[in-house]
Amino acid sequence: PTRVFSGIQPSGGLTLGNYLGALKRFAEKQDEGIETIYCIVDMHAITVWQDPDKLRNATRELAAAYIACGIDPERSILFNQSQVSAHAELAWVFNCVARMGWMGRMTQWKDKTAGKDAEAASLGLFAYPSLMAADILAYKATHVPVGEDQKQHLELTRDIATKFNHDYRVNFFPITEPVIEGAATRVMSLRDGSKKMSKSDPSDASRINLTDDADTIAKKLKRAVTDPAPLPETVEGLEGRAEARNLVNIYAGLSGRAQADVLGEFGGKGFGVFKPALAELAVSVLSPISGEMSRLMQDPAEIDRLLGRGADRADAIAQPILEQVYDIVGMVRSR
Ligand code: TYM
Repeated sequence: PTRVFSGIQPSGGLTLGNYLGALKRFAEKQDEGIETIYCIVDMHAITVWQDPDKLRNATRELAAAYIACGIDPERSILFNQSQVSAHAELAWVFNCVARMGWMGRMTQWKDKTAGKDAEAASLGLFAYPSLMAADILAYKATHVPVGEDQKQHLELTRDIATKFNHDYRVNFFPITEPVIEGAATRVMSLRDGSKKMSKSDPSDASRINLTDDADTIAKKLKRAVTDPAPLPETVEGLEGRAEARNLVNIYAGLSGRAQADVLGEFGGKGFGVFKPALAELAVSVLSPISGEMSRLMQDPAEIDRLLGRGADRADAIAQPILEQVYDIVGMVRSR
């Protein structure tokens, strides 16, 4: 049976990339009637130091974002990772299955330690993908919707599942399918079409935050770096025009239309026409979301209650799977 799992880090500030690459698609999966489990990965967040009060706030804000983007805590299971101990426990088993070399080859690890002293990075940051595999496999999830940047981590999840099955001569863990689909699985920086839009970019003008107001969104899009040529009539015409392609992809993602369809409307027109149309579209999609997030944030106790209930439901699935894993690897369980 199909079971979807995905997660987002509560490390402060969600971008349009998180929305188009993840949140929007999470809600679509839920609405297809598939079993969906969505996690706020607070234990991944502390692989780099987080201010405790800010982490608590970011966790609740991310819960509010999930709900504001259409995740229904009844139809989906929505919870924070640290409340379900199976994640950490299974991650330990996977730490003993995965190899140091696998972790060292992760581009995210290399990027995060580039130009720094890798010896000074936390052990948790190095083992990050092992915990991510545990998140997914604690539920034997079959499908994982993510943005393009998580692809390598999902390949590692498959490697861990395969090696576990092989080492213990079982056919226990499924080989999970990454689901990377749609026009906007890699939203790029508004300042540099070769860089991913990211909350950690020092320039706020490089990204649209889910909580930006209408004026800010319009300004950032107006100032987005582009070439001077009008938009092409066809998708092939976007070749070699990373910035133009990015804005077309964003338009397509926000409107749910194909790139070709967007170019059918705007091909031949200049950015002077396209950018204001894109800004209007972005505001019409994002402002109800940020409005709903602030409304939900007025009642943090209710958010905590929802996360607790979600964690109970998640635990009911993950704990029996973890017990079977302990049995497979040879742990005595006598209570
Ligand atoms: P995180 O928190 O960095 O990002 C959350 C999701 O947003 C997507 N995303 C983007 N998509 C398109 N364009 C962008 N510019 C962009 N930026 C971010 C990410 O691909 C991701 O889907 N390791 C994960 C969290 C995680 C997880 C998991 C995911 C932990 N356990 C298990 C799936 C399954 C991460 O750091 O995502």
